[in-house]
Amino acid sequence: MTGIRATLKRGFDRLERLLDTLFGSDWNPLANLGPLGWFLFWIVAGTGIYLFIFFDTGVVNAYQSVEWLSGSQWFHAGLARSLHRYASDLLVVIMLVHLVREWSFDRYRGKRWFSWFTGVPVIWFVYMSGITGYWLVWDKLAQYVALTTTELLDALPFFAEPIARNFLTPESLSGRFFTLMVFLHIAIPLLLLLMMWIHIQRIASARTRPPRGLSVLTLVALVIVSFALPAPLQGPADLSTIPARVGLDWFILGLYPVIDLVPPSVIWTGAMLITVLLSGLPWLPPRKEAEAAQVFLDFCNGCARCEDDCPYAAITMVPRSDGAPFPQEAKVDPDRCVACGICMGSCPSSTPFRRSGPLITGIDLPGRTLERVRTEVITAAADLSGPGRVMTIACEHGAAGVPAKGRVILPCVAMAPPSLFDFILSRDLADGVCIAGCAERDCFNRLGGKWTEERIARTRDPQLRNRVSRERLLTLWAGPSERGRLPEALRDFSARVAVLGPVPKKTSLAADDEATADLELATKDNPT
Ligand code: HEM
Ligand code: SF4
Ligand code: SF4
Repeated sequence: MTGIRATLKRGFDRLERLLDTLFGSDWNPLANLGPLGWFLFWIVAGTGIYLFIFFDTGVVNAYQSVEWLSGSQWFHAGLARSLHRYASDLLVVIMLVHLVREWSFDRYRGKRWFSWFTGVPVIWFVYMSGITGYWLVWDKLAQYVALTTTELLDALPFFAEPIARNFLTPESLSGRFFTLMVFLHIAIPLLLLLMMWIHIQRIASARTRPPRGLSVLTLVALVIVSFALPAPLQGPADLSTIPARVGLDWFILGLYPVIDLVPPSVIWTGAMLITVLLSGLPWLPPRKEAEAAQVFLDFCNGCARCEDDCPYAAITMVPRSDGAPFPQEAKVDPDRCVACGICMGSCPSSTPFRRSGPLITGIDLPGRTLERVRTEVITAAADLSGPGRVMTIACEHGAAGVPAKGRVILPCVAMAPPSLFDFILSRDLADGVCIAGCAERDCFNRLGGKWTEERIARTRDPQLRNRVSRERLLTLWAGPSERGRLPEALRDFSARVAVLGPVPKKTSLAADDEATADLELATKDNPT
């Protein structure tokens, strides 16, 4: 399983780099599958509402209304129909690729089970929305879909009378039954929307909107396809005959030929087994997770930076419980915390400069404390010698390929507070710091790379001090297919910092003082 996952991940990574060159990194569709799924849903919903203005929901006139809107009103209502269809098809593709990608990036196990588990019913709802949509056109394809689906449903012990009987003769199809199908085609997408919303509830700052350029590009592509290949109509349904051949929409109805061939009991058993297996995948096998982050109230001033930065919505701010003069304190939900350490990097108390007493911060990882990280950094410095000494702070998901000498690996690069880079340079532990994380936009923890960049650029707290020379910092974001370039990039960087020489002593002392002052701001005796 791990081998398949690693191969798939490398494949995605390669393809993504290729798409980077075509679309630019921000608009890369592979890095925007979830947001694109939402965008496509809204296109389908918008065009669906527009179609209902022209669509006759009665069984007798449904086909004529679709024929009319596709023919004489092709430039708006016909366009809406084709867009409705092609956006649904693309949604199916995007959803399945998104599923495989999240699996191959291992973002579905352990405490991250929730999005995966709630994604499984999303698959059912997407398909059911599409299938009920095909019934409404009431052409030959609709007849085929209605018959095959109801025969399948009749195998379930839910219906007092076989519903397939509704489609045996022209007289047997009642207007009421058709109205029920119309209702289902509205209700199921609404349930899909609800499931999609639940799906992202445990993801902080979930991206539900693709970059504007990518949205425009997707819409334009769909409009072009809609004009070039308008959604077909396959002649009115005729229940006195059995349609011999129908053109299928393979994206939504691709399994229908199988349903035709295989007994319904086998189909249902297979569907249930796949659903149970998919739902249980996050626990097959379960991921061993490190102990959840812990809050140390003596060093927490309730600033809520950790809550803002946690990618898993695992931190909430609650009323103060220890009588300290701050209105709130951080509280970690251990069932959601994956021990990425990002909160430790965002806490103003996380400064490695402190000299007296044990190094405790506002929020720490019991299995990997700030104090231990500081010791590791000091130990790693002993491996470095000569001019151009570079220490690498690498993330455990993107670090392979970075030379082991002078390297400290963290669960996520954003676990390193910016003051750690300051500490390394001002304490003369290295002449330069390389921060090596997952490929851009592919951070295993979703937001670690972004937060790190923003802290260095001083657009996010805690900000890296201005006095830390940016020339002495290198950020390297690399996916599995790019790891080969890391050693060379490090060699170049080392040569550059060798030219800069050692960090001037004056800067290091001033930085030290300021960092200590910063720590004081964070403690309960100084509520400023
Ligand atoms: C219409 C279909 C779907 C839509 C619109 C959708 C949307 C999203 C969005 C917006 C995100 C957050 C992306 C981010 O902010 O980085 C996400 C994450 C995720 N989705 Fe989906 N999704 C869909 C279907 C599925 C399915 C079928 C599965 C799997 C069964 C799935 C599994 C996941 C997982 C594992 C994550 C990552 C959770 C994490 O990072 O902890 N999704 N999805
Ligand atoms: S370690 Fe911190 S940032 Fe990471 S999941 Fe746990 S609470 Fe959130
Ligand atoms: S002081 Fe640290 S632990 Fe407390 S709320 Fe701020 S970031 Fe979180």
